[in-house]
Amino acid sequence: MNNFKLILAPMDGVLDGVMREVLTSCNRYHYAETEFVRIVDRPVTREQLFKKVPELIENDGCTINGTPVYVQFLGENRETITQSALLAVRLGAKGIDLNFGCPAKKVNNSHGGAALLKEPELIHDICACVRDAVPSDIPVTAKMRLGYENSDDYLFIAEKIYSAGVNALCVHGRTKIDGYLPNTVRWDLIADIRRQCPVTVIANGDIFSRESAERCAEITGCEHLMLARGALYIPNLAEVINNDAEPLSYESLPAVIEKFISVGSASRYPINLFARLKQFLSYIKVHYTRLEQPFRNVCHCDDLTSAVKVLQHDINEMQNEENQY
Ligand SMILES: Cc1cc2nc3c(=O)[nH]c(=O)nc-3n(C[C@H](O)[C@H](O)[C@H](O)COP(=O)(O)O)c2cc1C
Repeated sequence: MNNFKLILAPMDGVLDGVMREVLTSCNRYHYAETEFVRIVDRPVTREQLFKKVPELIENDGCTINGTPVYVQFLGENRETITQSALLAVRLGAKGIDLNFGCPAKKVNNSHGGAALLKEPELIHDICACVRDAVPSDIPVTAKMRLGYENSDDYLFIAEKIYSAGVNALCVHGRTKIDGYLPNTVRWDLIADIRRQCPVTVIANGDIFSRESAERCAEITGCEHLMLARGALYIPNLAEVINNDAEPLSYESLPAVIEKFISVGSASRYPINLFARLKQFLSYIKVHYTRLEQPFRNVCHCDDLTSAVKVLQHDINEMQNEENQY
């Protein structure tokens, strides 16, 4: 048994209200974060927030099983971000997170996300402005990468964030240039940040199993760990890490997929469920490698109904084959 504080990461285009609902229904997370809400020269509106964070209207800012949801903002304008954060808090957000790690070109070109790692003073000002304005009982956190082109300034950036008074600092142990490349994550540098900055540090990057969570915690000294892709590869990963559960069996997967479809169909804001089902399968097949062929078969379907039929058929076949042994 471990007692890590596990946080469900923000993942733009993937971990929306529907997926948060599915994953928090089969895992206990300390809290979950929304996809980034990008702020340019105007604060977010109520409608935009409700769309990104349906939990605000549906369950007082928590998922159905009670997991608190923090709203993540991204941008360079401290005034409009602060006004957006205040609106989110008034509508029930349980925390605010500030994104200084997104590597997407579209975002970086407009001076947001990881692009700000080149301007630690600006990062400091944004964090300080939001922290000062938001009521003190609401956590304000920040999420950074180790740097833009290299990790030369990781400690300086972390100190700038820490000295702005944030409640926690999440560090994805890669630079912007590293993207998501395998074997580039630097848990040892996260350890330096934790030693240097007396604030809760959340370690993030390449935690895909109980073993890697334990190794990351050992190297970084962090008890707060953030799970992103791994939470999709193994839908009950938090239970695997903290409660000695086995990864869901192939037999249990149809129930998770059904849950995804039923939550997705009932979603207040329509989503392209067929596209999202293919996306979900593309993640879970990383761990459940026998889903590779069913995934390809689903990709040849024209719509959700036929995709679900094909998937049910393929998974039944897999189970029948298993029972023969
Ligand atoms: C498709 C995708 C979307 C992401 N969107 C966000 C985002 O909206 N905000 C953010 O801070 N990080 C975002 N990230 C980064 C993740 O939160 C996380 O830091 C990164 O994937 C490393 O963790 P992992 O190795 O556990 O996946 C995204 C990552 C991926 C793969």
